[in-house]
Amino acid sequence: MGEKRKRYAQELYQIKFIVINIMNAVIIYYSLTGKTELVARAIGKTLNAELRRVEDLRKKGVTGRISGAIGAVRGACGKIKPMDFKIDNYDLVFIGSPVWVSRPTPAINTFISKANFAGKQVVLFVTMGGWGDKRAIKEMSDVVKSKGGKIIDSFAIRTGGVDDEKIIEEGIAIGRRRKDAPAGI
Ligand SMILES: Cc1cc2nc3c(=O)[nH]c(=O)nc-3n(C[C@H](O)[C@H](O)[C@H](O)COP(=O)(O)O)c2cc1C
Repeated sequence: MGEKRKRYAQELYQIKFIVINIMNAVIIYYSLTGKTELVARAIGKTLNAELRRVEDLRKKGVTGRISGAIGAVRGACGKIKPMDFKIDNYDLVFIGSPVWVSRPTPAINTFISKANFAGKQVVLFVTMGGWGDKRAIKEMSDVVKSKGGKIIDSFAIRTGGVDDEKIIEEGIAIGRRRKDAPAGI
């Protein structure tokens, strides 16, 4: 590579680095059994981004899971603990949910339906035993878009029978991919 091109490439890289670092990122997720949280934490660590866990106020245990599954099938919004932060403070928003009956969770439905995504870049991720990711991502994405968000990427991570280390690696890879993406895309 010629000297001039090399310098140009270096400058571009520096600009990209600066843009990513001034982009304020947040990772909002719901997790019942901890797998989505593993991914969220790994992305957060890789991008040095803030984490916000959505708390479902549904009953815990089997009753909660059954009512949660029924809620998911209906595309319902569940009651969540009020969150003391404003999405307005962030440019890049990650949203993560487990897949429940091929749909997003009611807790994430609530968060998405209440937030204003105008002007935000959004990355979606779901974790799943092994199926239903496409529908879940599509449903999340439709609502985010209808509220002004721009979906720039989405990921599905299989957790059924997968070691936690492997799941964490996938989260790190998601973070790196965002770091390596051309600025603003
Ligand atoms: C109520 C319920 C419904 C689920 N439905 C699906 C499903 O449709 N497809 C799938 O692959 N996994 C399904 N799973 C498994 C979870 O998506 C998977 O274990 C996920 O990684 C759990 O994330 P979490 O540990 O963050 O809660 C379901 C789990 C629960 C509790």
